[in-house]
Amino acid sequence: MPETEVAAAELPEEVAGAIDELRRHYPTAEALLLPALHFAQKHWGGWLPEEAILAVAAELDLAPAKVLGVVTFYDLFHQSPIGRHRVRVCTNLSCALRGGQEILESVKRHLGVGENEVSADGRCSVAEFECLGACEQAPMMMVDDEYHPRLTPQSAAEILEGLD
Ligand code: FES
Repeated sequence: MPETEVAAAELPEEVAGAIDELRRHYPTAEALLLPALHFAQKHWGGWLPEEAILAVAAELDLAPAKVLGVVTFYDLFHQSPIGRHRVRVCTNLSCALRGGQEILESVKRHLGVGENEVSADGRCSVAEFECLGACEQAPMMMVDDEYHPRLTPQSAAEILEGLD
């Protein structure tokens, strides 16, 4: 993240207040970073633009690169907008051997999106995932918190059609 191109946003009062509230429960700024990012992500509508990452870094007096490292490490933080439903398709080895890449491509085609994009109706965002931890049921897809095992392109499409 080029620190010089994007200015830190003013951290909204509700986020700064929530972080302040937690300061006495966490011994270090590093420990407070995860909840702080959660508050910020919620405020920014489910994702963290660069200005939000810089604002959290400034609030906690941490290096922006360190905060960015945490944001990119954890799958629960997003650097681009996400849809109402988050679709993750596994393409790791077990799933790849059973057509995971084909599932991913068919899901993207069905929704008319590319990797990490949101469908035009705002319903779904799609991401390729390393391993969903259910390799014996490959190929796997996860929609929000729900696992969908042993997929075919057809069954994946039906699952997507059933989403609100
Ligand atoms: S390889 Fe796909 S769930 Fe593990």
